[in-house]
Amino acid sequence: MIYIAPSLLAADYSNLAADIKRVDEAGAQYLHLDIMDGAFVPNISFGPELISGIRKCTDMIFDVHLMIKRPERYIDRFVKAGADIITVHYEACENPMSVIHLIHSYEMKAGIAVSPKTPVEHLFPLINHIDMALIMTVEPGFGGQSLIPETLEKVSTLRRYASERGINLDIEVDGGINAENVGLLTSAGANIIVAGSAIFKAKKPRAVIQAMKESAALNTFKG
Ligand code: DX5
Ligand code: ZN
Repeated sequence: MIYIAPSLLAADYSNLAADIKRVDEAGAQYLHLDIMDGAFVPNISFGPELISGIRKCTDMIFDVHLMIKRPERYIDRFVKAGADIITVHYEACENPMSVIHLIHSYEMKAGIAVSPKTPVEHLFPLINHIDMALIMTVEPGFGGQSLIPETLEKVSTLRRYASERGINLDIEVDGGINAENVGLLTSAGANIIVAGSAIFKAKKPRAVIQAMKESAALNTFKG
């Protein structure tokens, strides 16, 4: 199943509730929430208070992407704020497995993200313990960048590794994705597609989401 996850980073912050309603009604199932600490990445976004504020606006799945150092310090805050899935960066954790266990202790879905330069093979020992892997297709930190083509290979390596072992893993991709290139990612094996600028900056987000879903349906992973 393919899911589209608009990233709130590209929304109009003077009009958040209306912008969220627009993508909800346009057929997006996930809302991707990028949390940046100014240390793990050179940018600062928003925190748990904003998430609890917008929790009232929608029933979409809150897909929280933590770009923060030592994220174990803040998991409980994001759980209370209304997250549904919490993803932490492999590079930001001293012990990724213990952070996965911590997230699961709140009965929450856990994801692990890898930045473009991190080999995807680092995820192999974790694959049986996570609900989702997030392959970054740009350097984390900013919306509106261009997709790094070399990251596609990481998606197919991971999808192949999972399917050879009969594991039905969610693989999310994030950064520089639009209706034109989404097929490359789904044919590589991704099934959760994050898109910030392509959706929130569009005049007709519904048409973009529809086009993304159609391209995804035509471009499936063939092994
Ligand atoms: C980058 C973030 C992305 C970003 C995607 O660090 O993780 O979620 O908002 O934005 P676009 O789709 O504009 O590249
Ligand atoms: Zn993200």
